[in-house]
Amino acid sequence: MTPFAFVHSTRRVAFAPGALSQLADLAKGRNAPAVILDPFFAGEPMRERLRGLLGAAARFHAVPAQEPDTAAVEACRAFLAEAPFDLCVVIGGGSAMDAAKVARMLVSNPGDIRALAGPQGVPMRPHPSLFVAVPTTAGTGSEVSESAVIGAEGESYKLIFRSPEMTPAVALLDPELAVSAPPSVTAASGFDAITHAVEAYTARTANPMTDPIAFAAVETLWHALPRAFEHPADLAARGACLVASAQAAIAFNSANLGLAHAISGALGALHHVAHGLGNALALPWTMAFNEPELGAKGRRLAALFGAPTAAAGLARLRERLGLDLSLDSVLPDSADLDAIAAGAARSGQVRVNPRTPSLDNIRAILETMRHPTAGSDPYPVA
Ligand SMILES: [Fe+2]
Repeated sequence: MTPFAFVHSTRRVAFAPGALSQLADLAKGRNAPAVILDPFFAGEPMRERLRGLLGAAARFHAVPAQEPDTAAVEACRAFLAEAPFDLCVVIGGGSAMDAAKVARMLVSNPGDIRALAGPQGVPMRPHPSLFVAVPTTAGTGSEVSESAVIGAEGESYKLIFRSPEMTPAVALLDPELAVSAPPSVTAASGFDAITHAVEAYTARTANPMTDPIAFAAVETLWHALPRAFEHPADLAARGACLVASAQAAIAFNSANLGLAHAISGALGALHHVAHGLGNALALPWTMAFNEPELGAKGRRLAALFGAPTAAAGLARLRERLGLDLSLDSVLPDSADLDAIAAGAARSGQVRVNPRTPSLDNIRAILETMRHPTAGSDPYPVA
């Protein structure tokens, strides 16, 4: 058996409709709660509910709606540093959770934000507060992962943060908070989750601890994601997607990701393409490239999808979610595909991809991404 390491540092994952109410028990014995909110959940009704759960001393900060950059994290750091806190709660999507994870670390590790960045992880001093994450979308799985991705304000690259000290101690999965996500958000964030699951399942660094979790996440998302997209109020589908999203992140925390994330990362850093959309553009084609190397795992995915290949199944899911788009439609005319390919090739995720791509391979995949699949099956491009 190939040597591996499996990370499981979230102490509790609790799932229930209405799980947000468990904050009242978590707040017992703590008297200085600081709450970071996605702007969609930052209105007075939610603040009132949270004061009821956490006490009148709870103070609040709303992060910007877009994917977080260093300015958003600095604003969050300033909020947290205003007063001591013994409970830190973040309620929101991946943007809010990633901003909160890094800002909380900056309180216990004062200094330049860039000093904490590094894809392999940087030692960080722990913060003594209990850290609770409540995801409102099924997507990044940031509530159970030890990493965060933050845009560098005014720059064309993203900073990656990684430390077990950033992992929330408690993740509360509450499908009642997810039902308000519009279909476009459900589709894009959900495709991020299934990309995590598929890439964790097929990465070179996949292992016997991550494989069952990653495959279970693929299977659940394959069935539940279209239901949540087509019926936003379906609480069972929302709950299934939330659990699978957390499973996928627990798997990729140890198994890492792959070429779709490398390409999506370059598209996001260079052209601000939304993360889930970038994965949807890339994954069917990177899967077609990888599939000759996957053996039984590729056949198992194709069988689950009821498709001739895993890539074909993922292309059909993408179409059903309204994400069968062309790369050209999301990039400016001035975009340089060579620069995007070079950016993707620099990602560490390329090294764990099941088939090692050359720069020419990545450039060829980007070329195929310029057109929707529109009912045809993706083919290996190189
Ligand atoms: Fe992702």
